[in-house]
Amino acid sequence: MTHATTIPMPGFTVGHHHITSPLVLAPMAGITDLPFRRICRRFGVGLTVTEMIASRAVEQGRERTERMAEIDTDEHPVSIQVAGSDSKFVIEAAQWAVAHGADFVDINMGCPVKKICKQVAGSAMLRDEALVARILTAVVKSIEIPVTLKIRTGWDAQSKNVARIARIAEECGVQMLTVHGRTRAQMFNGHANWEDIGLAKAAVSIPVIGNGDIIDGETALEMVRISGCDGIMVGRAVQGNPWVLGEVHAAIMGLTAPAKPTPGERWAIVAEHLEHLASHHGIRRASNLARKHVVWYTKGMFGSAEFRGHFQRIEGWENQRVEAEKYFLSPQQLEHHHAQ
Ligand SMILES: Cc1cc2nc3c(=O)[nH]c(=O)nc-3n(C[C@H](O)[C@H](O)[C@H](O)COP(=O)(O)O)c2cc1C
Repeated sequence: MTHATTIPMPGFTVGHHHITSPLVLAPMAGITDLPFRRICRRFGVGLTVTEMIASRAVEQGRERTERMAEIDTDEHPVSIQVAGSDSKFVIEAAQWAVAHGADFVDINMGCPVKKICKQVAGSAMLRDEALVARILTAVVKSIEIPVTLKIRTGWDAQSKNVARIARIAEECGVQMLTVHGRTRAQMFNGHANWEDIGLAKAAVSIPVIGNGDIIDGETALEMVRISGCDGIMVGRAVQGNPWVLGEVHAAIMGLTAPAKPTPGERWAIVAEHLEHLASHHGIRRASNLARKHVVWYTKGMFGSAEFRGHFQRIEGWENQRVEAEKYFLSPQQLEHHHAQ
């Protein structure tokens, strides 16, 4: 099915929040911490979601869990995402999220990771529709702010139940649904099925956010056309490339696409990201996280393969910073940028 695409997209309402820019940053464990969300938000994101927080972890009260729920005073609206299959713990985690300043509590029933599925949480819950209803009803009753839900399209191709889960969610009082257009069995293989997102959209009247394989403005528009979704969620494409959000934002709002960042603009973002990583996590953890993020930022740049090998061996926060700056601001980068 195809839908008339209204551009600019009109946005959607959840509770008393009208989200004018229907571009949502996907929750990604180990990636979309506060430092990276702070970087991403400026590129037109209308809603951010924390990394998934296991409800059992909340009960244990570790400092690291507290840090995962930290949000900026100007980061609103924001969802804190929780996961779990025991309503007692999910309720506690939801109430804890409210106390930490969440505007919405997002429940994760999409995570395909074995560790999570073994505890019958994440996407494993999609196989047990009665359990889904029980958890959602319990959480909706236990907090006063909107509860939202993130799912895959089902457990496997034979047992897709995206429309039924969408209806259950709406009946239980969930106020927004995000659908990653893959089954659990697909993990991250193949292509996300955007028509399946449309099945959810057709089944309910709450806002449906489409997710899976958006890599630029064109793919975002195509997802809207195929699924009729109310918002777009972007995940992996933003790794090392928050500018892609600006591109998607421009496409869905009917604006001119922004220019690609120059090496200087790229470095300004990387430097700021490094600063936030250090102040949020402390230098030790920031140093490990930098190995992943900085290397992602070099994708497509001059001599990136060589730099990656070199950067992974650098020890010490200050050395990492200096070597990264040298690389991003080298004269060859500018030449390469102009030649593109
Ligand atoms: C490294 C990684 C971590 C993720 N962590 C979460 C998470 O904590 N919660 C969640 O709901 N989805 C998580 N996801 C799934 C993404 O939110 C998103 O649904 C998926 O990547 C598909 O979107 P994309 O094709 O735009 O990446 C994660 C994905 C990746 C790659």
